Amino acid sequence: MLESPFARSENRFIDELLKGPSMLAAESLVDSVLEKLGQDKMQMARFLNTYSYLEYIGAMTLTRSFLPEELTSHALHHLIEENDHARLFRANAEKLAGKKLTYKAEEMLKGAAARNYIYRTASFARQKLQGLMLSSNMTGIVSQYSSLVAELRTVWLFPKMEQVLKAKMNVSIAKIIRDENGHVYYIDSILSRIDPHFQKRAIAILEAEAAAYMRFMNAVNTELKQIRS
Ligand SMILES: [Fe+2]
Ligand SMILES: [Fe+2]
Repeated sequence: MLESPFARSENRFIDELLKGPSMLAAESLVDSVLEKLGQDKMQMARFLNTYSYLEYIGAMTLTRSFLPEELTSHALHHLIEENDHARLFRANAEKLAGKKLTYKAEEMLKGAAARNYIYRTASFARQKLQGLMLSSNMTGIVSQYSSLVAELRTVWLFPKMEQVLKAKMNVSIAKIIRDENGHVYYIDSILSRIDPHFQKRAIAILEAEAAAYMRFMNAVNTELKQIRS
């Protein structure tokens, strides 16, 4: 694997978003889901496979959104890393499940709800950016904004997941956490150059992402409660 060109850097705006209301709103729900998953290896395997699926959809959507002239080596590297996250989540899921997996519905935990989370976020970003001509490739800008908020969610969530995974399941997603941190700063640097109202728009799109994310996690939580009852 090539060394990642992305790194964490000083950025007060990103730090504020990670501590802001869009993250706090999901805190107790996510803690409760992770607490349940920490006690059930098979459901954790399905959840990790769902995250593999999210990484795969994210990578595919991002891949399709670029124009040929936008595919710098950094952009290509970003795509490689997102696809690699799908592979790594799958590898950990298979380790816990003790068998090979695919994206069959029963091998994920609320895979359809996860997909809807991505689509709802992208649809709000599209609405929010409609009519603006920030670039000749507005599909690309919508995709970058959708990626930014999804990456922020992972930077907030994955360290929590890592704690449970390391303590209870003897697996680690440390490499993915390092990459996602770098991606947030990379996308911030692209969008803040292109959009004069970047911060205001990022906050609004993150609010919509939070609502979509809560729907997804509520579905996961309900499913886990049913399995345990
Ligand atoms: Fe990723
Ligand atoms: Fe990423």
